Amino acid sequence: MPAMADPDSRAGSRYATGPILDWCARLHVHHDDALTRAFATPEGVPAIMVGPSEGQLLGLLCRLGRVARAVEIGTLVGYSAIHIGRALAPGGHLWSIEFDAGHAAFARDNLAAAGLGERVTVVEGAGVDVLPTLEGHGPFDAVFIDADKLNYDRYGAWAVTHLRPGGLVLGDNAFLFGELLDDTERGRAMRGFHELVAKSCDSVCIPTPDGLVLGIKR
Ligand code: SAH
Ligand code: DHB
Ligand code: MG
Repeated sequence: MPAMADPDSRAGSRYATGPILDWCARLHVHHDDALTRAFATPEGVPAIMVGPSEGQLLGLLCRLGRVARAVEIGTLVGYSAIHIGRALAPGGHLWSIEFDAGHAAFARDNLAAAGLGERVTVVEGAGVDVLPTLEGHGPFDAVFIDADKLNYDRYGAWAVTHLRPGGLVLGDNAFLFGELLDDTERGRAMRGFHELVAKSCDSVCIPTPDGLVLGIKR
């Protein structure tokens, strides 16, 4: 490791306060009606979508990577899917997997309102069941993992198998709400995800509030 330029921030202290993060998100990220709608979850749906800056980052990474064919695991009501769907290269497609039928229905409405009804398919079911059915559409340019944390190692293994070389694997909640190093089943699963990405990709964990793994498949 290089010498420390700033020991406090290397040790984990953060300059990004809530107001600083909000100010930056408001400046850099434009929420049109469709993103506003998908960011405001309906009654009974948890507000667990990525933040505006993370959604914007996902879109910019997809543009940088010229992503055309992408898979998302964990749609919720389509907020991240709108960011990714809008960033796809011409002719591209996103398949987004959602276990909860209610979430999937809201997501389809939100994606239609965003003008992405044709470019994004919400596939209902559990990630482990749906992923094998998508293999015929691959190899993929990007896979974004944001569903049940216990299966991140399985989703990651599928991703690196079905990405083209140069394709992107992305994983939200990579710090596991602060529990990444815990001796729990999901701690082990999330560490397994990091390890397999590090082994098969050039990779980094971007220190967003809860960590975003980015790997480029070798
Ligand atoms: N990516 C979304 C947020 C996803 S929240 C966004 O940023 O906008 C996680 C979602 O994963 C929830 O909607 C939850 O219902 C779904 N989920 C949980 N377990 C799942 C599974 N096994 N397979 C597919 N989706 C699952
Ligand atoms: C939860 C899931 C997420 O993907 C997230 O970003 C935040 C919270 C959750 O299941 O509580
Ligand atoms: Mg998440």
